Amino acid sequence: MSTYLSGIQPSGMQHLGNYFGAIRGHIEAQREGGEHFYFIADYHALTTSRDPEALRERVRETAITYLALGLDPERATLFRHSDVPEVCELAWLLACVTGMGLLERAHSYKDKKAKGIQATVGLFTYPVLMAADILAYESDRVPVGTDQLQHVEMAQDMAGYFNHAYGEVFRRPEPVLPEEGRFARVVGLDGEKMSKSNENGIWIFESGKPLAKRIGRIVTDSRAPAEPKDPEELLPFCFLELFLDSDELEDWRARTREGGEGAPGYGHMKARIVEAVEETFAPARVRREELLADPGEVDRILARGAEKARAIAVGVRDRALAACGLRNPLPR
Ligand code: TYM
Repeated sequence: MSTYLSGIQPSGMQHLGNYFGAIRGHIEAQREGGEHFYFIADYHALTTSRDPEALRERVRETAITYLALGLDPERATLFRHSDVPEVCELAWLLACVTGMGLLERAHSYKDKKAKGIQATVGLFTYPVLMAADILAYESDRVPVGTDQLQHVEMAQDMAGYFNHAYGEVFRRPEPVLPEEGRFARVVGLDGEKMSKSNENGIWIFESGKPLAKRIGRIVTDSRAPAEPKDPEELLPFCFLELFLDSDELEDWRARTREGGEGAPGYGHMKARIVEAVEETFAPARVRREELLADPGEVDRILARGAEKARAIAVGVRDRALAACGLRNPLPR
């Protein structure tokens, strides 16, 4: 039986990259059998957050996002990272079998450092905590966007180092990427990877004027609508491709290639993107409002999730401690 696990940082509202790259797949996977664990990575958020009140709010907002988009707490376990402190113990055990070289190769650390984000020890060792997150629940399937692939591969490596040293304790996890590339790496308003730190995101729940204004920032050139263009080179198409069915998409592409009077301008494309975002998330926006009005229910769901997740992590932690000599061997 498969166990799915994934995490998401509570760094503000979630964007279309988080949705198409991860959350949508997490919610669809509920229909399959197996166990499902999704957590809000608040320990990880401390690598950049310094505002306690904002962090608490963002954890809540992220939980509400999952629930509003359709995560069913009866089928999937939703919980807060820091409610399972055993992952920090496991992270230490993994750190002690992992060479510095592995972490020095992490793209995400190198990118953040290049952007001037202060390189704390926490930021550097982040992949070790992430490996502990994955291994603590005996997960074998980790659905993520492409940007997290290297981290999941590092978790495979760390599980291997530990098992090699102390015997089979950890199950080997496999990354699961969205099948189509446009979902696995969603681009942002500037054509770079959509990311919270790039400030190029489109928020799932934004609507009305602020949404139209944001979509207006999608980078385009000054060519007239009638000029024939290659849709593959136009950024607005990256967004249309996320939402439109293949017939409608082909129609937009054909008219753009052809040019002339029937060709859409960038304004038309952007208006269609606004409409698609509004439509796609309208039911979830309503559920979000209901959940915002019932904070007790969100707290109860997170507490139940933590209880279930923690029971599993405690068992794995105990096995790992015994395997490396910090406890007596467990009875067989
Ligand atoms: P985070 O919060 O940056 O992103 C959450 C999920 O969204 C995916 N994603 C994207 N997918 C496609 N296109 C994009 N532009 C895009 N941006 C984000 C990410 O791949 C991810 O699946 N380190 C993780 C959180 C984490 C975790 C874990 C994930 C902590 N422990 C254990 C899996 C397993 C992170 O920062 O994700």
